[in-house]
Amino acid sequence: MGSIYKQLLLQSKFKPSIMNILVLGSGGREHAFAYKIAQSSRCEKLFVAPGNAGTDTIAQNVPIGVNDFQAIKEFVKGNDIKMVVVGPEDPLVRGIYDYFSNDEELKHVLVVGPSQSGAKLEGSKERAKEFMSNHDIPTAAYQSFTAQTLQEGKSFLETLEAPYVLKADGLAAGKGVLILNDLDEAKSELENMLSHSKFGAASEKVVIEEFLDGIELSVFVLTDGKNYKVLPTAKDYKRIGEGDTGLNTGGMGAISPVPFADAALMQKIEDRIVKPTVEGIQKEGIDYKGFIFIGLIKVNDEPYVIEYNVRMGDPETEVVLPRIQTDLVDLLEAAATQTLDRVSLQIDERSATTVMAVSGGYPEAYEKGKEIVGIERIGNSIVFHAGTSMKEGTVVTNGGRVLAVTSLDSDFREALKKSYENLEEIFFDKMYYRKDIGFDL
Ligand code: AMP
Ligand code: GLY
Repeated sequence: MGSIYKQLLLQSKFKPSIMNILVLGSGGREHAFAYKIAQSSRCEKLFVAPGNAGTDTIAQNVPIGVNDFQAIKEFVKGNDIKMVVVGPEDPLVRGIYDYFSNDEELKHVLVVGPSQSGAKLEGSKERAKEFMSNHDIPTAAYQSFTAQTLQEGKSFLETLEAPYVLKADGLAAGKGVLILNDLDEAKSELENMLSHSKFGAASEKVVIEEFLDGIELSVFVLTDGKNYKVLPTAKDYKRIGEGDTGLNTGGMGAISPVPFADAALMQKIEDRIVKPTVEGIQKEGIDYKGFIFIGLIKVNDEPYVIEYNVRMGDPETEVVLPRIQTDLVDLLEAAATQTLDRVSLQIDERSATTVMAVSGGYPEAYEKGKEIVGIERIGNSIVFHAGTSMKEGTVVTNGGRVLAVTSLDSDFREALKKSYENLEEIFFDKMYYRKDIGFDL
């Protein structure tokens, strides 16, 4: 081959290309993705569907729902999108990855997220338990039941000790897990789930498992289906009330790294959980190019898996991504093209914290449309929008979780101080946030 041609070929091959990118979702997680992608020199045009008032300032919002695959297809074709980053689990569980890979016009597009069969690790608790059992991944002992085996389920509960853990098999918007102290209550809730559709179709099957007593943390992994990178750890605070009391929410704040996740624990997690998970995915021939969010519980010094999610967490993303120094588009592209072994992951050593400001009443009924003031005053934190929208030129609340204030500093206490100082500058009617994020550390 002539040397000039060779050179041109090399250039086209090794000069990183720039591309148009579409992020799917509308929460703080997607704002954090958009924030990092917008900083990349690899990104030409950035779109977020449907997005929020925060993504609107750094990308172009597109009024398309995350499950409207047909409309997404038309948009991707019409705007020369080269990469789609899927934020929430719903489109993954519905098979958006397969929708792209089975379509002649879309199959060249890089989709960051697992195939439908990979997404079952989150979409079905029973499937996740079977997978862990097949690959010797430490988790709580379990059995699963249907309406036909309700009596066996009740008898199984009698063999366990309180507290009793009941999990709806399917997606139930984070509400499908019940932890009950009383045996009779556990039996009646089992019956509500199996025979009276407590969580709709999600509870046609219920996993009953052993209660694990310990402290929770989450590990995030980016995989291309054979290689993986362990991303920063995080811990989130799910309950609405201080001291971890009251109803469960999507998450009221998060800290990264998790101070008690020392090198010894991380080594165990990598050897016993991360590696066997990625090997399991490979052995089972699952097409998986995306994030694995592993919910763990540390019992004494031993890690156990409590759940897999097939996406990043929210608000965990708001503390994990700001610590990643490697160009995010390079990382995502490497995951989608099975070349993760060729990129190195650089992590900011500082701690990141985020505190979520929510609408009064959340996670139950709350009002929307409240004007938000003060965001422009924040200098030394990043304000990620979650439930916000633009109304006649002003930013208003549009959801339960409204915004997440993320800060970085030498340790998590210093970072938290910044998040809290900056939250004092922001106001909307009935705004609430937990003042004790990190209280247990
Ligand atoms: P999941 O939706 O599976 O993450 O469960 C929701 C929450 O229930 C978790 O964040 C844990 O706090 C708790 N949980 C789930 N499984 C167990 C278990 N086996 N033992 C103790 N707590 C659990
Ligand atoms: N913060 C928990 C989740 O995203 O599932």
